Amino acid sequence: MATKIHKILVTGGLGYIGSHVVVELQNKGFGVVIIDDLSNSSLSVLDRIVGITGIKPVFEKIDLKEKKSVTDFFIRHEDIDGVIHFAASKAVGESVNNPLKYYENNIHSLVYLLQEINKLASQKLIFSSSCTVYGQADELPISEEAQIKEPESPYGNTKKVGEQIIKDTCSANTLLNTIALRYFNPIGAHESATIGELPIGTPQNLVPFVTQTGIGLREKLSIFGNDYPTPDGTCIRDYIHVVDLAKAHTIAMERLIEEKNTENYEVYNIGTGKGSSVLEVVNAFKKVTGVRLNYSFAERRAGDIISAYADTKKANRILGWKSELTLKDALLSAWKWEKKIRS
Ligand code: UFG
Repeated sequence: MATKIHKILVTGGLGYIGSHVVVELQNKGFGVVIIDDLSNSSLSVLDRIVGITGIKPVFEKIDLKEKKSVTDFFIRHEDIDGVIHFAASKAVGESVNNPLKYYENNIHSLVYLLQEINKLASQKLIFSSSCTVYGQADELPISEEAQIKEPESPYGNTKKVGEQIIKDTCSANTLLNTIALRYFNPIGAHESATIGELPIGTPQNLVPFVTQTGIGLREKLSIFGNDYPTPDGTCIRDYIHVVDLAKAHTIAMERLIEEKNTENYEVYNIGTGKGSSVLEVVNAFKKVTGVRLNYSFAERRAGDIISAYADTKKANRILGWKSELTLKDALLSAWKWEKKIRS
């Protein structure tokens, strides 16, 4: 008997993380339908996905804030077996200045999506959450049991509230099965260097700023704070290669499809388990690329936490997922991507 091809909806599937997940899903034999409003992505990513996998995913340009469009989409695609939800705004600073944009984009869309998933024969959802829900954790590494803290930004609050909305919906509807993945700091790009992160304007995140400085687009990197209580005074994060992160999604989706989940709302940390300081990232970048970065120390950035890295035991043990690529692999892939898009 032929095995069924499972049809997975990826919202925001042309974005940075979404596109890498689409590639991994196709590599694993899933059928993929992408919806994206192209607000922070480009249609050219679709061709790039085809270039990597040889398979063209179905694509529909849909804005998830338009309730009727979402309803109509699911009428056309009632045979969807699972949903992976990325479509959201993600700039921390922008969310502070324009909180309502974030509550509308990230919360309305999630509610409309859940209302439709609740009607499907197969009700399975993976939600893209963030380690931002932990704030500055009291203990390191951070386990899933750590206290959820007051969010540092409206963006962070949309992840916290988003998890709560899903959890409440799962309590009310036991047919719904969900997994929230709390990402630490995703970086890097696919080895083909044809998909990767494309920040609009000045990058807010460390690695895109590093690669843009390396290539000469930015004069120098400002390292925000060198007087933190860490070994070298700079903040520590858990940088996870986006391809490893993408693989966690396919594994989580398989868990839901094979009905191996023990709760209908599960949460996993997705990180490497290893913390690296900003200076360690800068030095590793120099080592793998041979490019010396121009940098200087600047004031601390408001809202930055000192140190965050994941306890990944739960994901290792239950999902059977573990990061395989190193910080250097990730930085080299980010550098190849940067060079390719500027060439
Ligand atoms: N940093 C610099 N200079 C820069 C940019 C960043 O020194 O130009 C430092 C930051 O101060 C921080 C570290 O590099 O210490 C990492 O900063 P990022 O902005 O790359 O990442 P964050 O940890 O601040 O933010 C990320 C995600 C958010 C998420 C958050 C959760 O981008 O979406 O993790 O902690 F909310």
